[in-house]
Amino acid sequence: MSTNKKLTTSWGAPVGDNQNSMTAGSRGPTLIQDVHLLEKLAHFNRERVPERVVHAKGAGAHGYFEVTNDVSQYTKAKVFNGVGKRTPLFIRFSTVAGENGSADTVRDPRGFAVKFYTEDGNYDIVGNNTPVFFIRDAIKFPDFIHTQKRDPQTHLKNPTAIWDFWSLSPESLHQVTILMSDRGIPATFRHMHGYGSHTFKWVNEEGEGVWIKYHFRTEQGVKNLAPDLAAKLAGENPDYHTEDLFNAIEKGDFPEWKLYVQIMPLEDANTYRFDPFDVTKVWSQKDYPLIEVGRMVLDRNPENYFAEVEQATFSPGTLVPGVDVSPDKMLQGRLFAYADAHRYRVGANHNQLPINRPKNEVNNYQRDGQMRFGNNGGGSVYYEPNSFDGPAESPEDKQAAYAVSGYADAVAYDQFDHYTQAGDLYRLLSEEERTRLVANIVEAMKPVKVEEIKLRQIQHFYKADPEYGNRIAEGLGLPLPQEV
Ligand code: HEM
Repeated sequence: MSTNKKLTTSWGAPVGDNQNSMTAGSRGPTLIQDVHLLEKLAHFNRERVPERVVHAKGAGAHGYFEVTNDVSQYTKAKVFNGVGKRTPLFIRFSTVAGENGSADTVRDPRGFAVKFYTEDGNYDIVGNNTPVFFIRDAIKFPDFIHTQKRDPQTHLKNPTAIWDFWSLSPESLHQVTILMSDRGIPATFRHMHGYGSHTFKWVNEEGEGVWIKYHFRTEQGVKNLAPDLAAKLAGENPDYHTEDLFNAIEKGDFPEWKLYVQIMPLEDANTYRFDPFDVTKVWSQKDYPLIEVGRMVLDRNPENYFAEVEQATFSPGTLVPGVDVSPDKMLQGRLFAYADAHRYRVGANHNQLPINRPKNEVNNYQRDGQMRFGNNGGGSVYYEPNSFDGPAESPEDKQAAYAVSGYADAVAYDQFDHYTQAGDLYRLLSEEERTRLVANIVEAMKPVKVEEIKLRQIQHFYKADPEYGNRIAEGLGLPLPQEV
């Protein structure tokens, strides 16, 4: 089948021979003057960019967000305003700990990262399929992730390190309970909820704010995989979730989520029964019910995985007017970590790549840098302030001011109840669900080499609910924990 197009080099010159390298005589050495060969091999050597240090394995899709409920009294963010308005988006689902190429059906949180291409610039919600996280201060993240990755000597996953860290970081108990429950292995990316997890601030046209949390609820229903089937699939089809998402969209079975928010008046943050900025806690839906905002539909597969999925760069700091951050100590650290990762992984001009480029006009004074696309600002004014009618700031788009007080100091959240919400979750489960949860934990803890670590962790389960702790101790053949 001829396309009548000539094969060219990357500099556009026609290629005379793409099957045989140029040699000195038919049996002689290869010539350095075969510049097409040199370029082809050299480019191939550079085909990989560094994989994401976490969430390396993932799948993406295009879609849209449609507003179904008017929330303009709470936020001026254009993406959430105007019932019926549609905003294009790109989503990337992922596992956390495995490398790019690792199996999809493992027990791990799933990343749920959405990029809305709004009229006011891109807005990213970079969440997970769980409403809480293992730790609540960014300073602990690199240590936590070290325990999830490979042991530096054996190059194997190390359950002793995993449970050592968790047992010494009891704030992880709530998320560990979710992870070890049935929801720890979703049936597909389509059958799970997504959460922004952190508290954010919505601000309206009048400059009034509220604290909010995002909930994406799957319209496909929540479905999970039994561990035996998941293990079988991990061997037979490590790309099971990636394939499922692609095939569903390809055949027109477009997955859909409804977006809700919980809304908390600003002043409640001072009096709520726990710190609402602590990402290891959920807000009670009795106190702050879910309010519908819109629907998210995924209706188009990427055409090129590398261009659209691998090069996509999501950051919790990619914000638009109407959405501000909160003092959540994890979120604050993430505001640095992601853009820094993008500059390293993709390059300083990553926002100019088609998948990351906003769909509205970008006007600023950034110039130069590796892989700068376009005309680099051409001859336009390249500093600010200036007398040449260059783009200027818009004070109405400033982040809303908020009061701060206290000493600059390294301090923990002042509440240490890591047990009530984990225990509430345990008590919510049916007997069958509890049995599976306990079995999953026992299996996961068996390989831990140090008994003291197991005993310490059992004590945490016990504090959440005595039955929870006792059943795990029994499963591991260890003495029942004592009331302390
Ligand atoms: C990816 C850091 C906590 C969700 C990443 C990446 C880094 C990172 C460096 C790779 C970014 C890239 O190369 O493009 C951190 C730090 C955290 C933290 C320092 C804590 C301080 C969290 C939390 C969540 C989360 C709490 C969810 C609530 C994600 C997701 C991705 C990701 C979904 C993948 C984004 C994508 O699909 O490209 N994180 N993370 N992370 N993180 Fe975090």
